[in-house]
Amino acid sequence: MQNLRWQVKDNAEQVAIDTVAQIIAVAKNAVSKRGLFHLVLAGGSTPKRVYQLLAQAKPDTRHWHVYMGDERCLPADDPERNSKMAFNAWLAKDSMPREQIFMMPAELGPEQGAAAYQQTIANVGQFDMVLLGMGEDGHTASLFPGHHHDLEETVHAVYHSPKPPPQRISLSAKRLSQAGQVLFLIAGQGKQEAVQKWRAGADLPVASIAPEAGVDVLIDRAAMGE
Ligand code: 6PG
Repeated sequence: MQNLRWQVKDNAEQVAIDTVAQIIAVAKNAVSKRGLFHLVLAGGSTPKRVYQLLAQAKPDTRHWHVYMGDERCLPADDPERNSKMAFNAWLAKDSMPREQIFMMPAELGPEQGAAAYQQTIANVGQFDMVLLGMGEDGHTASLFPGHHHDLEETVHAVYHSPKPPPQRISLSAKRLSQAGQVLFLIAGQGKQEAVQKWRAGADLPVASIAPEAGVDVLIDRAAMGE
């Protein structure tokens, strides 16, 4: 069962600003407690603004470890890659040690890429923070409505994605739920219908993320239908 906390913001910019503040606060706490901060990034437009703001804020990222929630199976340098977007917006401008950035090798294709990433995260344990977006059909990461996966897997090979490109790699709902905090970033009127369905209890991929600590949804008024 999902325990949802809705944090309604005036607009997409405020969603991004408040997300950055929460990331930095959780990171400070994790680093002081454990000496490490494990952050999972999302693709999409709202997260992109978060990365641009992180590039400006320049937090102390020496002990941050960065992962990807999902990736599009395209050549490593393709501008449509989620990793490329995160690099362009933030990581390339940050001094975080490069060996602490764990991107999905999606250029290998869904099967091989998923198998490799499964090894990469095998000993990571609980993520401190997972960022997620939501598509207009209620998908999150590359978990799409109507797709069936082995729910025990940590990383899925994804085919026939309705959002291009069709081949992708995604952390599973189970693995994304192994997190101290999960933040959904949702903005824009186009998301309203999916949000309503989600709130009404529909069986959507977004509803399958159920960390023990509950889920925080940072959402703008337009997506909330206000
Ligand atoms: C991707 C993402 C996808 C995204 C949502 C929301 O590959 O694009 O993994 O799950 O987060 O589709 O994207 P927007 O924020 O751009 O609407």
